[in-house]
Amino acid sequence: MNTRTLLILGANGDLTHRLLLPGLGRLIAADPELDIALIGAGRTELSDQTWFDRASKAMLHEVDEADSAARQRIKAVAEASRYLTANVTTSRDLAAVLAQCPTSPAVYFALPPAVTIEACTALRDVDLPAGIVLALEKPFGTSVATAEELNALLTSLVPEPQVYRVDHFLGKSTVLNLLGLRFANRIFEPIWNADSVESVMIYYDEELGLEQRAGYYDKAGALVDMIQSHLLLVMALVAMETPSSLHPDDLRGAMAQVLRAARPWQGDAATAGRRARYATGSINGRTLPNYVDEPGVDPQRGTETLAEVKIGIENWRWAGVPFTLRSGKAVGNARKEIIITFKNVPHLITGLTGCASPPRLRVVLDPDRLHLDLNINGAGDPFNLEQVTMSAEFGKGALSPYGEVLSGILDGDPILSIRGDVAEQCWRIVEPVQQAWGANTTPLEDYEAGTPGPKSWNL
Ligand code: BG6
Repeated sequence: MNTRTLLILGANGDLTHRLLLPGLGRLIAADPELDIALIGAGRTELSDQTWFDRASKAMLHEVDEADSAARQRIKAVAEASRYLTANVTTSRDLAAVLAQCPTSPAVYFALPPAVTIEACTALRDVDLPAGIVLALEKPFGTSVATAEELNALLTSLVPEPQVYRVDHFLGKSTVLNLLGLRFANRIFEPIWNADSVESVMIYYDEELGLEQRAGYYDKAGALVDMIQSHLLLVMALVAMETPSSLHPDDLRGAMAQVLRAARPWQGDAATAGRRARYATGSINGRTLPNYVDEPGVDPQRGTETLAEVKIGIENWRWAGVPFTLRSGKAVGNARKEIIITFKNVPHLITGLTGCASPPRLRVVLDPDRLHLDLNINGAGDPFNLEQVTMSAEFGKGALSPYGEVLSGILDGDPILSIRGDVAEQCWRIVEPVQQAWGANTTPLEDYEAGTPGPKSWNL
């Protein structure tokens, strides 16, 4: 098997050590055949020993203490790895770093978005090795226009199949399980449409607050940080037509097609969304300050920490079904779930009593579970209905979301990467909402940290 080279630009940064290297460690542990050369590059000078210590610690972080064979393989990768001091926004340094790669690398830009663009621009003046792969983190642009510009820049460097736009949500095993659930069970597909589905909700609320990320988050806000990227992709997997295979063209084509049909509910961006930001409160015994008092936050920006957008998908399958996407920070009893609510029966047999709530299918992320809420005849009076829940646990994936994504990048399989047009579509869907919020047509409400959201939302 050929050696794969992973070149991480920004190798001394938080993303590399918190997510990428632990993901790589689990990937090496899961695949004894993986032959990988790791090269890190960054501005900060690091001694070989410091790099080795940090890289091996991060790669070993999520690997079972008892798995000594895997730990040995990881240490060997760390020992053979190198760290190069470089200003990766200059063509000269990039060329020097690329020259050190034993095989054509997968280049991972673990850098802030503006620096990634500078680095890609500098790559224009570098002779790129054939087969080089470019892997980027979200956000892919800040609007439709800038996403188009970024895509043009990237495809001036390498063909689109060699560009990997990373979204770690597509590496979450439960998100991928949507494919098995929907398409390997004939019972769901016939009712997976506007005839039988009342509404779809995709919630990803977090107990975490800002966590010292004001530099990035205060400019992004919940709408861009979570809905524009992650949740729209989850929606695409829930709502897309059946792809015939897991070939990247089939899956990504199906996702692109459904996103092209999506708009803010009834075409009215001002009423389709709600937004709020947290005020002081406590979560799990931890007191959070007002969002606006967090270090680095500019209150004038009016950044939301909780965003909800109702989306309509204008096609035969989904016309009239609202898809509500919501994500917030500092939310109490945080819900991370996809809820498909089915329509009530057209006529409940006269004589059957009790509550007949609509059946629901709920896919819960973290802990990963599946629930089906059904009406059955309750105990005692057989003509009295009650709702019961059938539950199952999803098996855990061997890899972390980043491990899954890295595996695709190193295998040359772009199935889990966002295609350029999909990134543009996600901006097209949220841009009118951003504009409405920018023009203050939608009020910015407050919620106490540790509560589900503003009281007026009745959550
Ligand atoms: C990131 C966002 O992309 O996803 C964070 O920038 C968010 O704000 C995170 O907390 C959520 O994903 P996960 O997998 O850490 O729950």
